[in-house]
Amino acid sequence: MEFFIDTADIEAIRELCSFLPIDGVTTNPTIITKSGKAPEQVFAELEEVLDEDQKIIAQVVATDYEGILAESRKIASLRGGKNVVVKIPVSREGLRAIPAVKSEGICVLATGIYSPDQAFWAAKAGADYLAPYVNRMCNYGDGVSQVIELVDTLATYGFDAKVCAASFKNVDQVHQLLAAGTPAVTVAPDVIRAMVDHPGTAIAVDEFTSNWRKTYGRSTLEA
Ligand code: G3P
Repeated sequence: MEFFIDTADIEAIRELCSFLPIDGVTTNPTIITKSGKAPEQVFAELEEVLDEDQKIIAQVVATDYEGILAESRKIASLRGGKNVVVKIPVSREGLRAIPAVKSEGICVLATGIYSPDQAFWAAKAGADYLAPYVNRMCNYGDGVSQVIELVDTLATYGFDAKVCAASFKNVDQVHQLLAAGTPAVTVAPDVIRAMVDHPGTAIAVDEFTSNWRKTYGRSTLEA
């Protein structure tokens, strides 16, 4: 499975990649605006901070067919095209553009998905990844179950498209999708930190150290 960080916060990416096997980074126009940096700077920093085997997944801003095509080519040329994925929203223009972008050999992630039906059409259009917005879908129904069902639907039809679940607001949403075998997720840094930093672990580690120190007078295995 693939686990991406959903952010343009370079320091957060550096921090999380320093101890977790992260498969890449996803951004979108809103995420980039929140970085307070120019998009060119964000892309340059992503290229610098990520290894070549970690994916850079960036989104088009244009909303018309020709513009989506032109921006897809531009994004696909980042880092010499190695492990770059272009995000295209599943608007009508986006759905029309997906096969054209794919025909140029560009890897496509269909984004802004609010329903399994939109995901179905993006898969049929040839998208490599589908990004349902789990938490936002929860405003309209049971987003988590819908995404789990979507994974089954894709398998039923033998679509190659891989679900990359996005828009998580808490660890439980991520947990449920991981437990169901979702092939990819993209998660914001604060939720990733909450997944790994359980207070119980810190208490347990302190207890191990303190008992060891009390008994052997040191805090390492060997003197
Ligand atoms: O990757 C999709 C994501 O960035 C949307 O998340 O938190 O704005 O619902 P959110």
